[in-house]
Amino acid sequence: MASRLRWMIAPFLACAVAGWASSEGACAKDRQPESGIPLQTILELETTARLLAVLLDSGRNVINEHQVRIDESEKIEKGFTPEMFERQLLDVFRSRSGVDLQELGTARIPVRAKRLLKELTLVSTQVVEQAQSEVNRRGGGIKEFIPAIFGAQVATRFTERTQVRLKQTALAPRNPLNAPDAVERTALEGFADPLYPREKVISEVTVKSGSLRLMFPLYTTRKCLDCHGEPKGELDRTGYPREGLRLGQNAGAISVVIPIRP
Ligand code: HEC
Repeated sequence: MASRLRWMIAPFLACAVAGWASSEGACAKDRQPESGIPLQTILELETTARLLAVLLDSGRNVINEHQVRIDESEKIEKGFTPEMFERQLLDVFRSRSGVDLQELGTARIPVRAKRLLKELTLVSTQVVEQAQSEVNRRGGGIKEFIPAIFGAQVATRFTERTQVRLKQTALAPRNPLNAPDAVERTALEGFADPLYPREKVISEVTVKSGSLRLMFPLYTTRKCLDCHGEPKGELDRTGYPREGLRLGQNAGAISVVIPIRP
């Protein structure tokens, strides 16, 4: 918990790995003053982007914890309702970020973060609601409702509604749509280093495109390993070869691109 909360206390110490800051981009900490963007704005954008990544990852983890129940074959009504999902999402997010989404009025976070977190909660719950027929589909086996599919559906809708881009990515993605761009690849290579500090995000402001980009590393829990763990190369139940990841290892990242102007 201490390591998770550290960023709340000193949120902006995290910054670029070598080679990340490009001539047109500046890491939040070492920002070039000539970018003309007030430091306060950059810090607020970074907090906002990070909170959005934590919330998306929290939703992914709630789905992951219930995967066995979702895939069960005997019971038709799985009881994995949107209400239950939302309750657990708020709990997980609160314990990871220290922010209570039910008390947003008094939360000490940027106004823009409040609006976007509310929207992301809504979209996440809607995706679970619309997945009910798949979750409760008769017969078990592979369900088309896993953390990555949930995450992709939420990200697409959220981007449509807010212009803030969310994406799940990895160095060797299963889905080519999740392939990293050059900026994401550099960050993922940093995260893949076993000595890289846990949960340390990487961010930069790209003046030319008028946005802040943030990469939030993801780590495997025991349940992820059902599909992404050992033995490497053997097919998991979704039909993809397992990556051979171990517990707690970096499994990719959530990439956030947030326009500087709302
Ligand atoms: C039921 C099997 C299953 C479980 C459990 C699972 N994944 Fe995946 N994961 C997949 C599949 C299948 C995809 C590709 C989905 C698609 O087609 O977009 C994927 C995609 C991803 C991606 C996006 C990059 C890519 O490979 O396309 C990341 C990152 C990821 N998973 C991390 C995790 C983490 C972390 C966990 C645990 C919290 C987890 N996964 C749990 C099956 C699983």
